[in-house]
Amino acid sequence: MVFNPPPQTPLPMMIDMHKNLLSEIPVDALTREQAAVELLQLSRVLAYHDHCYYHLAAPEITDGMYDALYQRNRAIERRFPDLRRIDSPTHRVGAAPAPEFEKVKHRKPMLSLDNAFSEDDVQDFMIRIKRFLKVPEDDKIPCIVEPKIDGLSATLHYQNGQFVLGATRGDGQEGENISANLRTLRDIPLVLQGDAVPESLEIRGEVYMTKADFEALNQSRLESGENLFANPRNAAAGSLRLLDPSITAKRPLRFFAYGYESLSNRPDQTQDSILLSLKKWGFRVSPLVALCNDVNTMIYHYSVIQSERADLPYEIDGVVYKVNDLNLQARLGTVGRAPRHSIAHKFVAERAETIVDLIDIQVGRTGVLTPVAHLRPVLVGGVMVSRASLHNDDEIRRKDIRVGDTVIVQRAGDVIPQVVDVVLSKRPVDSIPFAFPETCPVCASVVVQTPGIVAKRCGGGFSCMAQAVERMRHFVSRDAFDIEGLGERHLQSFFNWGIARTPLDLFLMEENNHHVIPPLEVREGWGVKATRNLFDAINRRRHVTLDRFIYALGIPQVGHVTARVLAQHLKTIDAVMTATLDRLCALEGVGTIMATELIQFFASFDNRVLVNGLIEQVEVEPFETPVFEDSLFAGKTVVFTGTLEKLSRAEAKAQAERLGAHVASAVSRKTDYVVVGADAGKKLKQAQELALTILTEEQWIDMVSL
Ligand code: IVH
Repeated sequence: MVFNPPPQTPLPMMIDMHKNLLSEIPVDALTREQAAVELLQLSRVLAYHDHCYYHLAAPEITDGMYDALYQRNRAIERRFPDLRRIDSPTHRVGAAPAPEFEKVKHRKPMLSLDNAFSEDDVQDFMIRIKRFLKVPEDDKIPCIVEPKIDGLSATLHYQNGQFVLGATRGDGQEGENISANLRTLRDIPLVLQGDAVPESLEIRGEVYMTKADFEALNQSRLESGENLFANPRNAAAGSLRLLDPSITAKRPLRFFAYGYESLSNRPDQTQDSILLSLKKWGFRVSPLVALCNDVNTMIYHYSVIQSERADLPYEIDGVVYKVNDLNLQARLGTVGRAPRHSIAHKFVAERAETIVDLIDIQVGRTGVLTPVAHLRPVLVGGVMVSRASLHNDDEIRRKDIRVGDTVIVQRAGDVIPQVVDVVLSKRPVDSIPFAFPETCPVCASVVVQTPGIVAKRCGGGFSCMAQAVERMRHFVSRDAFDIEGLGERHLQSFFNWGIARTPLDLFLMEENNHHVIPPLEVREGWGVKATRNLFDAINRRRHVTLDRFIYALGIPQVGHVTARVLAQHLKTIDAVMTATLDRLCALEGVGTIMATELIQFFASFDNRVLVNGLIEQVEVEPFETPVFEDSLFAGKTVVFTGTLEKLSRAEAKAQAERLGAHVASAVSRKTDYVVVGADAGKKLKQAQELALTILTEEQWIDMVSL
């Protein structure tokens, strides 16, 4: 759904938070109008006193008075249920269970962060920023350092200061409406405090559970025979995505706010003033924040926060550095799914020693054979680890990992556990080097290796069950076709029954069902209703955006970021299938290996049959580029030439693309604007000959800031 704000109750000019707190009119005697006014006042007054009690730790009224006000609010709502306000404190106990979560398209994407693992990575981050902004290397660009809370991000919408909607991050473009659950969190104000609240505001922050609350929750689950949560993050995620908000209300979830997007105005110019505003509006923000002028101070604060990590009541997995100046942040923009202005500096991984019991080979959707170590279960950073990817044959040989070895395992944040080293002194005398299989353990086809690529692959293609099922699983996954209710178990059965062995078969299933003996609805685990639901779920996905379509194909090396770049620049699936190596390599983030994989993929006969078949079954829609609707440059072609003084080429290009323009390297009749810097040569001449619109750097900057 696209979010539409509910009709708003106008705000009275001023409510006295202390005088005449309790009305003397009996609830039974209230007129409808009086009730509506009183409910509005009560929601403001109770929100204010919640803020004083929970955030400022400075209550201004007695608990008895608070309870009396709360009870009056509830009594009036009982008499006039339809007048219950969206910001009523009675929502804190949780609404009725919902059948499923509604989808919400984010107005501004919820991005993720790039990671830095070393001081060098942090230095590189600052160098990249300075190059992009074209400022001298010894200039200072102040950054904020904040702890990176290990929870789940959420976005909260406020209209005229009222909390109206909250959603999960989902895939960054679209999340799930979890408003009823978020309303139960005491840290989330239902009514914003203070003045100068933008009319339309979106708060971003992290939902988490403290270490102590997590232990207590697990203890009570242990006593009642329920499954335990692996860590506070999983406990928070599990609690937040419950369909019954009254259970969420009983889970001790917390919220730290770290940013906002304002659609009406932007009162703040820096990240540190954003944090102050958030605090004024009634949010909790981390107290461990520092504003630093240079990289060394940033890294110093990283180590300060790291030294406090164990004593913090909640888990953090690193710090986040953010350029403080919001104008610079806007200029820096994003690359792929991450902003250029921020980076997460992760803490070094936690390690433990254990024994390799077995090395198993798994076959992925692209046929890649991945060796996986089965380990004696061991606790690493609070999480039980029993498996670790060994990545590939080269890696096993390099580290000489053998069955029976004692190894050091590490886990860094949410990264899959890794085997870092072998403890040679503990190696059994009879151990032998691991021999990588030469045939696929699933279909016995021969194992192949593309020159220049370390991975070994099964050569069996769709005839290999592992690949076929995994490829379909990827095809239906959330960021791809997002077909509900089709888990691995079902796909495995479809493969075994011969009903669907390729993604195309899924779209033909309904049509073919009456030829299948027996038809799906009478097979084990399926009935008439389940079959109908499945076909409906598939039919709902007969429209798909080009980026999802490309990503769904499961082309090696092509993740959703690349899929988006391809969709944005090449526009049609035909253009993607026929693009040359040079054209592909010219795209941001596409290297030779990725381009080769793309070309190889579309060169395969089977893959072309699949894609052509799919286009007949589904309508592929163009990827929507986020452009300003009234942009002068939407759909235009721009060429930059000569030396720009104020902007780096990368920034100029990013500005143009953000406004919906295509940046070309050569001037032609199709060029709309040529932006010329100092010493422009041949291209300027060509532009003059073709009588194209020529802009100076200054004019360009003026026009893009319109
Ligand atoms: S800023 C571009 N600040 O880390 C995204 N994120 O890896 C802006 N996180 O999805 C995020 N603490 O859930 C930011 N102080 C903090 C954070 C923080 C935790 C999470 C957030 C985000 C993830 C990115």
